[in-house]
Amino acid sequence: MVKPIIARIGGKTKLADRLISKFPEHRTYVEGFVGGGSIFFKKPPSEIEVINDKDVDVMNIYRDVKKVEAFVGGGSIFFKKPPSEIEVINDKDVDVMNIYRDVKKVESLSDKEFQPNRKKFDKLRKQTTFRNNKERLYRNLYLSLVSFRGDRQNYIGENLESDKRYKNVGVKFKDQKQYDQFRDRLKNNNVTIHSQDYQKIIKKYDAPDTFFYLDPPYSRAESNKDYKEVGVRIEDICRFLTGIKGKFMMSYDAELDVKKICPKFNIYKIKTKYESTQKDKGAYEVDEYIITNYKIPKNNLV
Ligand SMILES: C[S@@+](CC[C@H](N)C(=O)[O-])C[C@H]1O[C@@H](n2cnc3c(N)ncnc32)[C@H](O)[C@@H]1O
Repeated sequence: MVKPIIARIGGKTKLADRLISKFPEHRTYVEGFVGGGSIFFKKPPSEIEVINDKDVDVMNIYRDVKKVEAFVGGGSIFFKKPPSEIEVINDKDVDVMNIYRDVKKVESLSDKEFQPNRKKFDKLRKQTTFRNNKERLYRNLYLSLVSFRGDRQNYIGENLESDKRYKNVGVKFKDQKQYDQFRDRLKNNNVTIHSQDYQKIIKKYDAPDTFFYLDPPYSRAESNKDYKEVGVRIEDICRFLTGIKGKFMMSYDAELDVKKICPKFNIYKIKTKYESTQKDKGAYEVDEYIITNYKIPKNNLV
């Protein structure tokens, strides 16, 4: 199991084990709305793996992680990890590497690298061209880590020391082991990465031995402005899924009458917890649906 490195509103960390235990046998695994990948990184690898999200910046994080050997940039990973016997750091940006050549004695830059800073956040939000993958990765990670619930749009704020919800800002990226595992997971299994509309992906990979896990934006995502890419409707997704050859599981909230909207499929209600957005309120319990085109055995319905 590999820990995801970015969060996404509606992430499935709390439900991951329960959902994965209900996945059917398959050869090809396709995740149509992967976001932070809390399911993808937790499940055992499948023979063929495909991840997709229409938010191209989010998918570029996965593309760039595959390419960036040691995300040496400001050294937030390299300098934090314990020294190994032989060490090689590489970056295509010669100016950056000249800093390391010149400055042999380095004080840790890592603590500052992902600290919230509004000016930096606003500047990075506007950046659209990059000299290399490292620069693009840094930008995209910074926006994910230093935004409100990882929405990449709303700056998280500077005065967070007292707010326990934000205690992990930047921490994930200072953990070399976690980064390596994350990168290996994407690289070693040759995961295919797309940033397209979910319908294109389903069409492309639909086959009897394909399993789709779908976690679309929920009913209130558009009015809450949860993601850059929204605009999908549950009724359209269900219509689109009717008659596919592969199997699917879709997660959805219980605000709408899903039984009426998706009458052709099996619908199971489960309980989960969400963290409150209000300071110090903790977690609260809600109902959610799992919608499938295959039966989940009764003894696995918890
Ligand atoms: C509920 S989130 C997925 C959360 C994810 N399961 C996790 O654990 O982090 C929904 C995702 O759908 C993406 N999205 C929105 N519209 C899309 C579309 N038409 N096709 C594919 N992805 C889309 C959003 O960018 C967002 O990342």
